[in-house]
Amino acid sequence: MSDPTRQDHARKPREAQDRVVIFDTTLRDGEQSPGATMTHEEKLEIAGLLDEMGVDIIEAGFPIASEGDFAAVSAIAKVARNAVICGLARANIKDIDRCWEAVKHAKRPRIHTFIGTSPLHRAIPSLDMDQMAARIHDTVTHARNLCDNVQWSPMDATRTEHDYLCRVVETAIRAGATTINIPDTVGYTAPRESAALIAMLLERVPGADRIVFATHCHNDLGMATANALAAVEAGARQIECTINGLGERAGNTALEEVVMALKVRNDILPYRTGIDTRKIMNISQRVAAVSGFAVQFNKAIVGKNAFAHESGIHQDGMLKNAETFEIMRPEDVGLAATNLVMGKHSGRAALRAKLRELGYELADNQLGDVFVRFKALADRKKEIYDDDLLALMRDTAATGAGDHLQVRFLRVICGTEAPQSADLILAVDGVDQRVTAEGDGPVDATFKAVRMLFPHEARLALYQVHAVTEGTDAQATVTVRLEEDGKIVTGQSADTDTVVASAKAYVNALNNLIVRREKTRPEPAIKSVS
Ligand code: KIV
Ligand code: ZN
Repeated sequence: MSDPTRQDHARKPREAQDRVVIFDTTLRDGEQSPGATMTHEEKLEIAGLLDEMGVDIIEAGFPIASEGDFAAVSAIAKVARNAVICGLARANIKDIDRCWEAVKHAKRPRIHTFIGTSPLHRAIPSLDMDQMAARIHDTVTHARNLCDNVQWSPMDATRTEHDYLCRVVETAIRAGATTINIPDTVGYTAPRESAALIAMLLERVPGADRIVFATHCHNDLGMATANALAAVEAGARQIECTINGLGERAGNTALEEVVMALKVRNDILPYRTGIDTRKIMNISQRVAAVSGFAVQFNKAIVGKNAFAHESGIHQDGMLKNAETFEIMRPEDVGLAATNLVMGKHSGRAALRAKLRELGYELADNQLGDVFVRFKALADRKKEIYDDDLLALMRDTAATGAGDHLQVRFLRVICGTEAPQSADLILAVDGVDQRVTAEGDGPVDATFKAVRMLFPHEARLALYQVHAVTEGTDAQATVTVRLEEDGKIVTGQSADTDTVVASAKAYVNALNNLIVRREKTRPEPAIKSVS
């Protein structure tokens, strides 16, 4: 039986297919997720990776939200090579001006302004329909006078009355918006509805053919990817998404999912993106590391098990023909075909080559430092896998000679009899200090020892342990998140000893906290937007 969805698609050459623009909001909608706060340097690093992988537009932050957000957006705007750099602004002149101040340094800046248009959202600023339309006209006009690339979003579009949605979209287009984003802010819509909404707007709104429609889906019902793809089939040409689907509540559409769906099912979804899919795995792991939001093992595309075939039947089929159970090749998303890398006899050249394959280009002095750490790890662990090297690279990036606090020595006594104790030497601004503390378990005792040597009020908001690879000699990656005065910092470390990794992760978080205390000034409070 013929399949109507397949008709001309297979015959259309790739270059002739419509281009779908990838708009990444990991640094804005993703970072807004409680606890996913990234440091300035981390944001710059992630923006660099996004730019390098071919993301068309990077939403770098919400400049008026804080001095930190403003600084990050401006810094990213200054260094971005290819991507359009976008900042978010509410529908008022002050927000838009601040946003422009931050993005104007970019080669290709964009202002993204929004207002909630559904009945529930209209009630908040208590504007009636006419007043809100007038506000939209004025603010989009103002943004357009500053920047020729303006995106406008009716927040909660999927719960806005259709007639009113058409009216405000038309208003924004007349005022000069070049992209109209249709957010499913609360993750409420379903694929057929998502497609019908875009089709309805394309049909009813005068001027709709002159602008790009974007789709921005939240994943509360697990339908974000399906909704985004359905919107594209109906005519949307920009997908808003985040790495690992990071975002408030259940998150946003995952970049890796939509991009790989368009690649693998190009027979029925004949659209191109500019993404180099081989960079997906590395950025996924970096975002997980800096946000502290680990990727679930069975997550599509980037989960640890996404390409693992454990059952006998699967392994047998895979050995005969990989396509039996694999719809995409691991190397297409940046996973090396074979994961076993090196041991203690591997030399510098081999390490450099392997790191290059994993996306790290190191100068000679950096390689020297990493090589010392690699040898130390290889002394304790016979087989070193890609994941071990990635953890080691994260650890190297997280610690530096200029750190205020450094773990010099740690010995814990643990066993069936409580209390457990930790004997710790911590260098505080270069001066070694020693203490022994008791606690409820070795990690608790260690953290108490750290607190005794460096007293602080910060609250432990998260303590998370993950085994990097299999086996009892596996490294543990520990993530620690601390909260002080509403600000959150993350620390990470990896070691074959879980307690040592915990101590270093805690100290890494404290170092980040110290840096943050030094950098930040009081910031105006702002409510988050999803
Ligand atoms: O989910 C949402 O509505 C948003 C808007 C600010 C675009 O993130
Ligand atoms: Zn959102």
